[in-house]
Amino acid sequence: MTIAVLGATGMVGSRVITEAGARGHRVLALSRRPAGGDPDVTPIAVDVNDPRAVGEALAGSASHGAADAVVLAVRTMPVDRDFLVGATRTVLDAAARRGIRVLVVGGAGALRSPGDPDLPVADNPVYVPAEVKAVAAAGTAQLRTCRAHTGADWVYLSPPARLEPGERTGRYRRGTDTLLTTADGQSWISAEDLAVAVVDELETPGPERHITVGHRPPGD
Ligand SMILES: NC(=O)c1ccc[n+]([C@@H]2O[C@H](COP(=O)([O-])OP(=O)(O)OC[C@H]3O[C@@H](n4cnc5c(N)ncnc54)[C@H](OP(=O)(O)O)[C@@H]3O)[C@@H](O)[C@H]2O)c1
Repeated sequence: MTIAVLGATGMVGSRVITEAGARGHRVLALSRRPAGGDPDVTPIAVDVNDPRAVGEALAGSASHGAADAVVLAVRTMPVDRDFLVGATRTVLDAAARRGIRVLVVGGAGALRSPGDPDLPVADNPVYVPAEVKAVAAAGTAQLRTCRAHTGADWVYLSPPARLEPGERTGRYRRGTDTLLTTADGQSWISAEDLAVAVVDELETPGPERHITVGHRPPGD
């Protein structure tokens, strides 16, 4: 496959690029300041606020082939909900026009709470302290944007509550719309294992539109 990764220089995007490259996929690395160097990775400078640039990058050119799938993994600090919603709509529009599958790496806040399906994680202080509530709410708005889109083939991957650089074990638990926790109540995964799940989902798409993943301890 040719996989476009928007947010190529980020914590998630860079690991998705490594994982996809290791499995022999061609990668289009999209961000405002993408890094080059790997012959199987084509860096393309794209601002996701520019719909034409996004469309052109996905469509292919003399220097690179068209994308078969696009992973959206962008964010701003501090969180900018309008940016996130606009970027998501831009990518969904561009992908829909070209029949490209979209995998959005979104937020844990869009999930249901374990044991309390009516309580969104975004409103659950156990997982979302007050200082990150706006980030969680933006992720929920991003999922709504996907649901409202007619025509795009998308899947929204909510990470667990904690997502950070770590070890690639190649193992993870896969769920749908409810936050996954380990036996000790922790909800986490390494960004490396999340990247494994992203590429697995692109290679073998499941039927669900909202999925999540979590750390799988050895022996589980
Ligand atoms: N527990 C959770 O729910 C959780 C935890 C962490 C992350 N996440 C989610 O995972 C996704 C990826 O997060 P991350 O931690 O990997 O982010 P990150 O490390 O902050 O990277 C953000 C990426 O977005 C790109 N970007 C920002 N503005 C852009 C623009 N205007 N045009 C093009 N690219 C732009 C940046 O590249 P340039 O600056 O080069 O443009 C960078 O590659 C986000 O949706 C985030 O909310 C969720």
